[in-house]
Amino acid sequence: MGCVTRANLDKQPQEVAAMFDDVAAKYDRTNDVLSLGQARAWRRAVAEAVGAGPGDLVLDLGAGTGTSSLPFAEAGANVVPCDFSIGMLAEGKRRHPELALTAGDATRLPFADDSFDAVTISFALRNVHRTEAALAELLRVTKPGGKVVICEFSTPTWTPLRTVYTEYLMRALPPVANKVSSNPDAYVYLAESIRDWPDQPTLAALMQQAGWQRVAWRNLTGGIVALHRGFKG
Ligand SMILES: C[S@@+](CC[C@H](N)C(=O)[O-])C[C@H]1O[C@@H](n2cnc3c(N)ncnc32)[C@H](O)[C@@H]1O
Repeated sequence: MGCVTRANLDKQPQEVAAMFDDVAAKYDRTNDVLSLGQARAWRRAVAEAVGAGPGDLVLDLGAGTGTSSLPFAEAGANVVPCDFSIGMLAEGKRRHPELALTAGDATRLPFADDSFDAVTISFALRNVHRTEAALAELLRVTKPGGKVVICEFSTPTWTPLRTVYTEYLMRALPPVANKVSSNPDAYVYLAESIRDWPDQPTLAALMQQAGWQRVAWRNLTGGIVALHRGFKG
């Protein structure tokens, strides 16, 4: 039978979902430790970039336990956290019963065309098996004139930081994950998937090819994370 504990870079959907089911209980705490406390600042930057408020309907795709959705709810927006890991959704429901957590696959979203004022995805697009399909689905469900904000690990722009960071990912992260995570193998996948992910201009080009307009990005923490934004024409 063989229990799946980590995904590979081919990102088979069942393996990705099973891996997140497995880490759900300790996911948020592990994040805080491994990001050296930066995760909260990154989430604030996403909320500012989306700029949603009362009356806005926001899709938070790949929302996991719903932590990335909280800033939108706190700003008074109606947020729909959506994810395909039942384990992450169950943990989210336990912690945030007030959130409208919804099951759905990023490549076949269970929403009508032109539904949302803004769509956003934090640390999840990298895990979707077909990036282009997810970018097209996000566009489909966004209202004309609406906005996308993608928050994802990216490529540090300053060479010394890039070198130190790559060492951290490959050498320090797996032993730290061993101590704090319920599934340290999942964090080997994390390091590999970050190294394999397109850099800032390449992701911007993928967004444009999917039909997003006025695409731009902003680096956070020297480019360890990048926020990409675009609009539906
Ligand atoms: C690293 S977590 C990020 C969770 C949350 N957005 C955050 O910032 O903490 C990535 C999430 O993406 C979800 N995911 C990956 N592929 C997906 C897909 N094809 N459809 C929906 N969710 C997906 C996983 O289940 C997981 O919960």
